[in-house]
Formats: sequence, structure tokens, C-alpha cells
Amino acid sequence: MPPVSSGNPNLVSHILPMASTDAEHYHSGTNGEAKPPPPKKQKLCSFISESEIQSEFSHHDASVARINNGSFGCCPQSVISAQQQWQLRQLRQPDGFYFNDLRAGILESRKVICSLINADDVSEVSLVDNATTAAAIVLQQVAWAFSEGRFDKGDVAVMLHYAYGAVKKCVEAYVTRAGGRVIEVDLPFPVSSKEEIITEFRRSMERGKLNGQKIRLAVIDHITSMPSVVIPVKELVKICREEGVDQVFVDAAHGIGCVDVDMKEIGADFYTSNLHKWLFCPPSAAFLYCRKSAKFTDLHHPVVSHEYGKGLAIESAWIGTRDYSSLLVVPSIVEFLNRFEEGIEGIKKTNHEEVVKMGEMLAKSWGTHLGCPPDMCSSMVMVGLPSCLGIASDKDTLKLRAHLRNHFGVEVPIYYRAPKDGEVDPVTGYARISYQVYNKAQDYERFRDVINKFVSDKFCCACLSV
Ligand SMILES: Cc1ncc(COP(=O)(O)O)c(C=O)c1O
Repeated sequence: MPPVSSGNPNLVSHILPMASTDAEHYHSGTNGEAKPPPPKKQKLCSFISESEIQSEFSHHDASVARINNGSFGCCPQSVISAQQQWQLRQLRQPDGFYFNDLRAGILESRKVICSLINADDVSEVSLVDNATTAAAIVLQQVAWAFSEGRFDKGDVAVMLHYAYGAVKKCVEAYVTRAGGRVIEVDLPFPVSSKEEIITEFRRSMERGKLNGQKIRLAVIDHITSMPSVVIPVKELVKICREEGVDQVFVDAAHGIGCVDVDMKEIGADFYTSNLHKWLFCPPSAAFLYCRKSAKFTDLHHPVVSHEYGKGLAIESAWIGTRDYSSLLVVPSIVEFLNRFEEGIEGIKKTNHEEVVKMGEMLAKSWGTHLGCPPDMCSSMVMVGLPSCLGIASDKDTLKLRAHLRNHFGVEVPIYYRAPKDGEVDPVTGYARISYQVYNKAQDYERFRDVINKFVSDKFCCACLSV
């Protein structure tokens, strides 16, 4: 039976007949008289409906066009309820919770993640608060390698120029301070093919090896944050292997729920993704995958507690008295995902298609372009803003973003791209739009119309006070 469209691209309902009782199958009595058909028995097996989605996110501020799922994610009501149940369980009988429930609950969540990411073994999966914590775990261990003489002063760490700011600070704190040399991979933006990224990465590898230095670590984003671009992570990990890089850490803060996340295919040593960005977890939750290997036994949570020395996954499951509920709701998230046709895969695919459609609509209306081809976009797209807005600095992007939030109810982050010498009428500002299941075309149309009004009113960033 063909699917019945509900209007929302995420949703499709199927009406499954239970028996062959269609109206045309009239029963005939013994005298040949037509009898009225028995009542229709149909079982309605439907995926989540549009109104159910809206009710799941009814706590969102309805006055805001929230086209920035990328920054802080979202959490549906059914998962919030599950989280509250865990919180009550902890408060009702704390000793019972800590000594009977906590470890088992965290193990259940780890098993779910293990199967979602195609890891070999649940021992490879630790649950931590966020990608920032995961980066600290990996880099702390690199700092020890320097201080304990396994890495030499001047050995190299390579990371993307567009690595996330907090992760760059972490590299500064643990690698630069320990005597390591950091090389940044310059990436073009706008970017037109993954080959451009691969070429720049290879170039940086060459720079890293000059003077016979060893490249000890590569930090590779799966999806850069600003500007947002899907990085050809499999290809870059392969290059690292060919070059003999000791450790490869993939920062995929946006990964799970947004792009394909398969540990065997990607082949990194460490891979982290937030669960609160694109997997509907309440803040905050992330996993850190550490490939099973004799090389990586000395990983520890930066908050040392009772479980120190029992392996990262166990250490991370008890780091003192706190609220663990956001890590315990992972099985409830799977229930939510499975209400959508094709579950997480269906959500990912629809979000990608819709965000590209919305990005193209905006670029057409403003006479600009997307920051990269659709196959390098995830559920986020960079859209050029009209150059007449006069975006001339990072400060301008913050002022414009605040203006859109405070006066027009549009929540969207903006990126500043410095013009190149000789460029005529360059696009210097790009909006990063996201698409998640709760979004509607009207959210993007509001943004489009506000920007078009700015253009017709000759508004520019210089008009905005600090
Ligand atoms: C690429 C990247 N890495 C790391 C982070 C940090 O995530 P969190 O603040 O949840 O630790 C982010 C957040 O947006 C990110 O985009």
C-alpha cells in the first residue's frame, strides 16, 4: 500500500488492512441476497504525525524562528519526561540509585550507542558530558606522552584551521604547553569539492614532517562548526595512516544524527559526538569512542573519582555526585527516533534535503550562493548574505545576529569571511541555517523577508550600535 503523505516531509502514514474486508467484498447470503459488509477492521499503523511533532516541541518559544539547531540541539517532551523519571528515581532513593541503578543504566545507554556507531565492542564507548570533555580526555593523554618522554618536544599536532574554538584552546593547553608544535590546515571557503580539502591536508602533512619531525596527533572535524562543511573524514584518516600519524582524533560534535557515523568505516582512534545536538538528548551528553588497542590504555576522565584506573568507560560513569539523567535517557531516544519512518536514517535524509532546499531558496532570493555543494552539507547549510549588508568583521556578525534575535525573532548564527584582494562585491557574511524535524518553511521565509527588507531599507551593519 502506498504511503499517505501528511504534508510534512518527515512523516508518512501507512494504513495496514488487518483482513480482506474491503467494501467491495460483499458477503452473499444463502439466498443470494447481498448483505451489508461487516464493519471495516483496519489497524492504523502510523508514524509520528505533524501535530504530534509540534506537541513534542511545544515548549519551544513559538515567537522565534529557530533555525539554529546546530548550536544547542533540541529535546522532545517524551524524552524530557523520561529524564524526569530518572531524576525522580535518584531523588526517591539515592543510595539505591547510585548502588543499583546507575551503572546498569549507563551500560544500557552505551550498548545503544555501540550499535548505532558500529563499534566493535561496548568497552570502546564511554559516555561523557560533551565534546569539550571528550577533547580534554584525548589531549590530556597526549600531554602525558610529552611529559613522560614518549613524544619529543617539537613533535607535531595537525588540526584544521576551522577547528572549534574550545578545541583549539584545549590543544593550546595540552599540546603547545607540553612542547608540541601545532600546524593548522588552511581550508578554502567557499569550498567547491572535497579534493580541495584533501589537497590542503596533504600539504600540511608535508609541512609537519619537515626537519624529520613526527606527527603525533591529527585532530579532524567531521563537520566543522563555522563555517559548516562536511569534511571527507574517511579520506583524511586514511592519509594519516599512510603517513604514520600516531593518533587520530575526530571531533564530530555534530556527527550522530546528522551524518553517517560508522567507526569501522571511519577508522579513527578516537571519535566523539554530542548526543544533545542532533540526537534529541537533553543537555548534556556525548560519547567518546576509543578504539580498542594496547596503545590506548592510559585514558582517564579529567575528573578523577572512585573508579580511577578501571578503564575510561567505567571512570566516566561515576564522576562524583551529580545529575546523570541526560546520559541515562539514550534508550528512550531510540523510541523517539523509531516513531519516524526509517528512524534516524529517515530523519537525517529529510533534514539534509530540506536544509538544502531552504538554503537554495534563500540564496536565490538574495542573489547569493551556498558555501559548499549540497553533498558537503549535512543538516546545516551556509548561505551567503547580500553584500550590501556591509558585514565587515566578526563583531558585525554578532551584532547582526543579536539584532535578528531581539527585533525579528530569528535565531541564526552568522560567519564573517574576509574578502580576498581584488574581489569585486564579495560576499562577506554567511548564515548557517539548520533543519530539524520541528522546523517549517515559514521559519526560513521569515528570515528571507527580514533580510530583503534590510536590503530595501538600505540597512547595513554600520548602523547597528555596539
Ligand atoms: C566542532 C565542534 N566541536 C566541539 C564543540 C563543543 O561542543 P560542546 O559545547 O557540547 O562541548 C562544538 C559545539 O558546537 C563543535 O561544533
